[in-house]
Amino acid sequence: MDNPRAFFRQQTILLTGGTGVLGGCLLYKLTMKLDTRKIYAVVRGSTEAAISQWKETMPEHIEDMLATKKIELVLGDMTKHGFGIEEAILREMASSVTVIIHAAANINWLSTMPLKETTSNNCLPVLRLAEVAATFGKLAKFVFISTTYANSFLPDGIVEEKIYPVGDPEQHLAQILSEGKVSKGVDSGFASPYTFAKHLAEQLLLSRNPRLPILIVRPSTIGPAVSEPHPYYYRRGSCPASDYIERYMSAPDSGIVHVSPHCPDGTNVYDEIPVDMVANLTLLHIMHGTVGIVQAGAESYVKRTMAHFHQDIIDHFPHQDGARGPEFHYVTDKSIKQGRYAEFGKIWARDWCFSNAASKSFRSVKGPLSIALGDHDAAEKFMKERARRISEEVVRRRASKNSERSSVNFFI
Ligand SMILES: NC(=O)c1ccc[n+]([C@@H]2O[C@H](COP(=O)([O-])OP(=O)(O)OC[C@H]3O[C@@H](n4cnc5c(N)ncnc54)[C@H](OP(=O)(O)O)[C@@H]3O)[C@@H](O)[C@H]2O)c1
Repeated sequence: MDNPRAFFRQQTILLTGGTGVLGGCLLYKLTMKLDTRKIYAVVRGSTEAAISQWKETMPEHIEDMLATKKIELVLGDMTKHGFGIEEAILREMASSVTVIIHAAANINWLSTMPLKETTSNNCLPVLRLAEVAATFGKLAKFVFISTTYANSFLPDGIVEEKIYPVGDPEQHLAQILSEGKVSKGVDSGFASPYTFAKHLAEQLLLSRNPRLPILIVRPSTIGPAVSEPHPYYYRRGSCPASDYIERYMSAPDSGIVHVSPHCPDGTNVYDEIPVDMVANLTLLHIMHGTVGIVQAGAESYVKRTMAHFHQDIIDHFPHQDGARGPEFHYVTDKSIKQGRYAEFGKIWARDWCFSNAASKSFRSVKGPLSIALGDHDAAEKFMKERARRISEEVVRRRASKNSERSSVNFFI
């Protein structure tokens, strides 16, 4: 199958997380670029709240997307029994849905959300959804959006598109549900409870559902779009590096960052990928019938280093008085206190190399799902404009009385 429009014209999709940065981009692609037959988009709270979220993130497109009449908004909450979805709609979906894309998550990265709660948000829903999916008569693909950092316990080096088991996931889950924690040391190497919950979700999803056609997509850090729904499309609080920069611009810290001894100059890969590339890769893998695990990161986009990222901040992101930002200092001596934001960006100081081998053949794809970059200039032009937009946002928020910044999370 080479024609994405012809393929998606035959698909009925159940999408969770459609108001999120990735889900919104997927929804745009599915309705406006792929002529998908129908999309059940599960949204929380109210349909008005979902539409107002889309009006904020893609004001120029949402009316046209809704006008296609391809989107059916379904009220639901993935943490609730039966997902809080009306029985009749569940039955309708069971007889028509061909592809499930589960992109809903609570991605709060460095929150103090306890392991049990993040497991309820980021592990249990996908397991329950898989149980329900087993009753869907026409289902051809079950997609779970995970994260490359589901393996953040690994040492620096290559991370393949495979499971790296840590003990018995059933036992870990049972212990979390009964005691709220796992045995000492089991999750200590992970970047956060969220990443451990995703790790468990991946393993349990695969081990419990050997007959389900499962595709696990692991994006690395998601960044603003190259082009779709529009250049620089993002959702505030959902693109960690943009949020990091916004914080740094508002109140720079000492710039001291702990680095690995083998990358003392910050030459480790800083792994970020624009959201529309993650969406296109996901849809390409669905169309090509991929099962198993695929990663979507800088290897499919542009590989830059943490030092490049920091230099971008220095060069393009002026501070209050318009002066150049302060320098960053890399130290291997952990007894030196690092800057207050370094903890937020700690995964960018690691030297993982996330393999994107499964997507290699897609680099030459043309058409609506192309991941070709054309004249996109990731280092210069894109960063400058991204900086300008973030500056505007900072100024706007500073000017507004309500400069409360708590909605910006740090996650992956
Ligand atoms: N952003 C990144 O850098 C990144 C990196 C790697 C992997 N990922 C993964 O990519 C996927 C998409 O994330 P994203 O960046 O698009 O996140 P996002 O912008 O925060 O969106 C999360 C989405 O999930 C929905 N949601 C959360 N809890 C829900 C629940 N209980 N019931 C129903 N919907 C719920 C949210 O709805 P509301 O609008 O109502 O909040 C929103 O639509 C997630 O699986 C995430 O783990 C993200």
